[in-house]
Amino acid sequence: MARRPLIAALAALGLAAGAALAAEPPAPGAPSTPAGQALMARQAHFRDQAAGFKAINDELKKDAPDKAVILANATKIKGTAAALPTWFPKGSGPETGLKTAAKADIWTDAEGFDKAATQLQTETVKLEQAAMGGDLDAIKAQDRAVGAACGACHSKYRAAS
Ligand code: HEC
Repeated sequence: MARRPLIAALAALGLAAGAALAAEPPAPGAPSTPAGQALMARQAHFRDQAAGFKAINDELKKDAPDKAVILANATKIKGTAAALPTWFPKGSGPETGLKTAAKADIWTDAEGFDKAATQLQTETVKLEQAAMGGDLDAIKAQDRAVGAACGACHSKYRAAS
């Protein structure tokens, strides 16, 4: 019985804290809204994907590329490419007020954006297959196709910084 008011008081405190959060502009690097958090997570995913792609390109520049490193990173970016469409929930674009290079066209031209994402998926699957095959010329050719798929989407849907 005596517990009831305590719980109510705690609940009221929680609400007040929530309201205060909503009123504050998000601190840099710590957005308070789900859309802002999705935006930050997306950019981290892209950096992760780019690190995987760079690791492949770094190997390919060597006299004796390590094919195991190439295959591991090809598998990694196949995975990020598959997940990419989920990184763009509605509302996580410029309307967040946060710094983003994601153009509004991603959501207004969802069909075109999906195509660009599918293209990367197709090319990264092929890159993994080439990496399994182990032929360096085939890997290099497919690596260029992956780079082209990155660039095709960026030129349409990513704002120049
Ligand atoms: C289907 C579209 C699409 C494809 C394909 C794509 N990107 Fe992006 N990329 C974007 C968009 C949109 C952004 C901007 C995200 C933001 O700022 O919210 C971005 C941002 C980035 C960033 C900057 C991340 C940051 O720190 O803010 C890097 C690096 C990047 N992409 C690398 C790549 C690489 C490498 C590939 C290919 C392996 C690739 N992207 C493929 C759409 C794409």
